[in-house]
Amino acid sequence: MEVRLAKTAGFCFGVKRAVDTVYGQVELREGEKIYTYGPIIHNDEVVKDMKRRGVEVIHSEEELKNLTSGVVIIRSHGVPKRIHTILEKNGITCVDATCPFVKKIHRIVEKESKAGKHIVIIGDAKHPEVEGIRGWAESGVTIIKTEEEANEFLPPCGTEVCIVSQTTFNYNKFKYLVEIISKKVYNVSVLNTICNATKERQVEAEAIAKEVDAMIVIGDKHSSNTQKLFEICDRACSNTYYIQTLEDLNVNQLKSVQTVGITAGASTPKNIIEEVQNYVGINF
Ligand code: F3S
Repeated sequence: MEVRLAKTAGFCFGVKRAVDTVYGQVELREGEKIYTYGPIIHNDEVVKDMKRRGVEVIHSEEELKNLTSGVVIIRSHGVPKRIHTILEKNGITCVDATCPFVKKIHRIVEKESKAGKHIVIIGDAKHPEVEGIRGWAESGVTIIKTEEEANEFLPPCGTEVCIVSQTTFNYNKFKYLVEIISKKVYNVSVLNTICNATKERQVEAEAIAKEVDAMIVIGDKHSSNTQKLFEICDRACSNTYYIQTLEDLNVNQLKSVQTVGITAGASTPKNIIEEVQNYVGINF
C-alpha cells in the first residue's frame, strides 16, 4: 500500500515553537516551578506529558495574580498586555512563546490605537488569540465576526479605523466583512494579518484526499481546525476517517485500499502522526 503523508500535517511553526519552548525550559530550569498560562496546545496527550515533567497549567488571571514565584510560559496565542504587567509586578519570570505573527498584530494594535485609531478585529471574540490582541489596544476596540455585526458597526464620529484579523480567520469572509465596513467608514486602513499555515494545510489535505482511496485525519476531537480538515477531506474522499490516536484506527476499513493519505490538525504531535504512518505502511 502507498502511504502519502501531508507535509503540512500537524504543528504549525508557532505551535511547534511554543511546545519546544516548554520542553526546552524544563531542561534549562531544573528545580524551578514552570507554568504555562493556559494549556500550551489543544491536545490532552501533550498537556499530560508536560504535567508528568512538572509543568502546571494556570487557568485564570486570578490564579496568576496569586502566583509569587516560578516561570510562566505564554503560549502561541499570546496574551493581553496586562498579563505581562501582572507577571512583572509579581516578579515572575516570563518566557514569551507568543507566535511572532501574533506578536506583530499586538504591535500594530498598540501603535495604531496610540495614534488615536479605533481598532477593529475581525475574529471570534471568545478566542484567546483575539482576547490577547484586544488587550494591546489603548482605546476603542470592536470585534466583528458576522455580516450583521459589520453592518451594525459605526466608529466614534471622525475616528480613523484600523482593521486587523485573527490569524486563523477565513480570508474570503475577512474580505467580505472589510468591504461592508469600508463602504460606511471613510478613513480605514486594512491589515490582512491572516496566517497561511491553516490554509496551506487545508489545500494540501484536499489535494491528497482527491487522489487516494482512503484518507486519515488525526487530531483531538475538540480541535476545531481538525474538524474543519476532516470536513474538507470527507468532501474530497468518501473513505475519510477521523482518529485521535492509532488506537481509534479500524484496520478493517483499510483492508482493500491501495493508497492512503494522512494529514493532521495543528495540535497533533509528530509522534502520533508517525505512529499512524508507520503502522499503516507496515501492516497493509
Ligand atoms: Fe502562528 Fe500561524 Fe500557527 S499565526 S501559531 S504560525 S497558525
